[in-house]
Amino acid sequence: MNKSFIFFISVSIAIFILISQLHAQLGTMKKEIFKPLSYDLADKKADSVLSLMTQDEMISLVSGDRSFFIRPFMRLNLPEVYMSDATQGVHIRDKFRDVDLSKYQLEKSTAFPCPISLAATWNSNLAFRYAEAVGEECRAGNIGILLGPGMNQYRQSQCGRNFEYFGEDPFLRSVIVAEYVKGVQSTGTIATLKHFVANNTEHFRRRSNSIIDERTLHEIYLPPFKAGIDAGAMAVMTSYNQLNGEWCGQSNYVINTVLRKQLGFRWLVMTDWWSVYDGEKLVKSGQDLEMPFAVALENVTQLLIDGKMKKEDVHRMAKSVLRTYLAMHLDEQRKKSDETIDYQKHELVALQTAREGIVLLKNDHGLLPLSENKSSILLTGEYVTKLAKGGGAAEVKGFNIRSMLDELTSEFGKRIQYEKNPSLEQIKSADIILCNVGTDDVEGRDRPFALPDSQENKVLECVNNNPNTIVIVTSGSGVRMTNWNDKAKAIIYAWYVGQNGNKALAEILSGKTNPSGKLPITIEKEFKDSPGYGYLPEGESLYTRWNFMKEKEHPVFDIHYTEGIFSGYRWYEKKNIEPLYPFGFGLSYTTFEYSDLTVSKELFAENDILNISFKVKNVGKMNGAETAQLYIQDIESSVPRPVKELKGFKKVELESGQSTTVILELSKKDFSFWNPETKDWFAEKGAFVLQVGSSSRDIKLQQQVVLQ
Ligand code: BGC
Repeated sequence: MNKSFIFFISVSIAIFILISQLHAQLGTMKKEIFKPLSYDLADKKADSVLSLMTQDEMISLVSGDRSFFIRPFMRLNLPEVYMSDATQGVHIRDKFRDVDLSKYQLEKSTAFPCPISLAATWNSNLAFRYAEAVGEECRAGNIGILLGPGMNQYRQSQCGRNFEYFGEDPFLRSVIVAEYVKGVQSTGTIATLKHFVANNTEHFRRRSNSIIDERTLHEIYLPPFKAGIDAGAMAVMTSYNQLNGEWCGQSNYVINTVLRKQLGFRWLVMTDWWSVYDGEKLVKSGQDLEMPFAVALENVTQLLIDGKMKKEDVHRMAKSVLRTYLAMHLDEQRKKSDETIDYQKHELVALQTAREGIVLLKNDHGLLPLSENKSSILLTGEYVTKLAKGGGAAEVKGFNIRSMLDELTSEFGKRIQYEKNPSLEQIKSADIILCNVGTDDVEGRDRPFALPDSQENKVLECVNNNPNTIVIVTSGSGVRMTNWNDKAKAIIYAWYVGQNGNKALAEILSGKTNPSGKLPITIEKEFKDSPGYGYLPEGESLYTRWNFMKEKEHPVFDIHYTEGIFSGYRWYEKKNIEPLYPFGFGLSYTTFEYSDLTVSKELFAENDILNISFKVKNVGKMNGAETAQLYIQDIESSVPRPVKELKGFKKVELESGQSTTVILELSKKDFSFWNPETKDWFAEKGAFVLQVGSSSRDIKLQQQVVLQ
């Protein structure tokens, strides 16, 4: 054997060993995606467990236990299940109403950027990773059911819970929700779609009655729930409000007709905490589980005696709870010790969400990114040293928290001069001002669209006295910027950035990260421009502290959704109201050019799939990411249709000079409207305009197609 042959053989063996080792390692690293049992199998299992249960046991199974648990039945090997909030990370609660929950709590949990900022990334892949990370922390914390995603429509900017949701567009919300559900459930944690349905204000939320017509319900409020259901969500939480005069948590129409029949949901339905009042209605509505414990169901035994409830009703509810429980193996998979959390990975996901979710709204004369010169930066504002975040059930404390001051100082060093209350002289003499304003959004109350006076005055003082003022908004929803928008040189909408998101903010200011977030909402000039304006009962103003007793005494009040299907940008377009910043808008440090729109068929039939393709090119000097948006307009319709409806989008990363072809698909459903007579979607023949753009008000390419 010659030497080179021996050498060749040895090298080949070495490479082979290396590859097999690598392969083995990757194999063990490969994540197992959790798969629930099929409905039929879980149903059979539930039957056999039920056959061993007494009626009293069934009754106690259908009401929550100690506020956050499904009751255990150790005789039947069914351990308790702990459920925890919520969408932006795991809410650590050591105690709730005298119940010690400490044994269930993680030592720490990641505080992610708020969900509305996740929607502002327009990145479905990131939504999966974000939710997967939340799910992994749930698994480690022995949490069987995550009480999220929260996913109500952003109907008006004052709603205290907008930060927990995904914005104003049913399509964008649906895409994010579907990935969110898949991400959480891939870890074996149940995702709970909430709050079903039309819970769009926090002002006396337990006393509001949302009056909505059927078409609007199906086109605006239901699609994200449908998307979550189709993505496999195993739980739904009903809402506090009434829908058309019925409390959602005990409404046969809401649960049996809409949720179960029309949307096809087959798993666990639970009430929101203290939101149902009538046991008889509840059992007949298709509801399964009253939370946090029996209130409406307190008199189940009496209802049975009086014949107002049948044994079969209790059986149905208990079976639904068990079916979901068994399908997700909640009896066998909750072992805390088996889990290790990769917090570092989760922090990276949180950081990436902030990087992609922060929206650059204004950048006159290219003031940003701040160049590497010696200019001094005066930093001031409300949330510079403390982290702005949303409160209530969704609150997450986080760890390794980095304030704006921490991160800006590490990015810009001595150039940063922080002043809580800068003097006029300091304001005038600074080369650049970073002025932060924001709001503390929280469950249980709405807050004014306008900023608190003290903050408004401060930002006005900055913009009036220094032409190089950059405003950074930290809020979970839209705020009024009308008084200072024109004078501020740059505006960054940062939302609530989460525990480490101020790093992303610093990177955006310095240019290390090119901003790519786009608004998932419209920001109006004045609140009266909004489709939700007028929702407060006559003569009432917003309260600053939620009060349960006061809420109880408040009469039920109607909120007429008179805007109908014209919610969000659909409203501003129809009414010809110029918003301050439109839906889908967000600047980059580079520029993108759109061209070459082609559609696979200009005349198409109902069952055709249309392929829409176009080119996006980065014609600027920096690498960056663009979210191209596809809207449709029905121009020959027998019913009113919006001027634009988002039906597709794609986020593409492009180096300077690089271009790509984006391909999107449209099918029959995308052209349809809900027909209340047939109770189905209907694609009406006629012409439609396809509009491709970089925001809802910046359409770059369009083409007509005809459904024949
Ligand atoms: C909220 C829900 C939450 C529940 C449990 C309620 O007040 O509306 O979203 O999941 O409390 O914390």
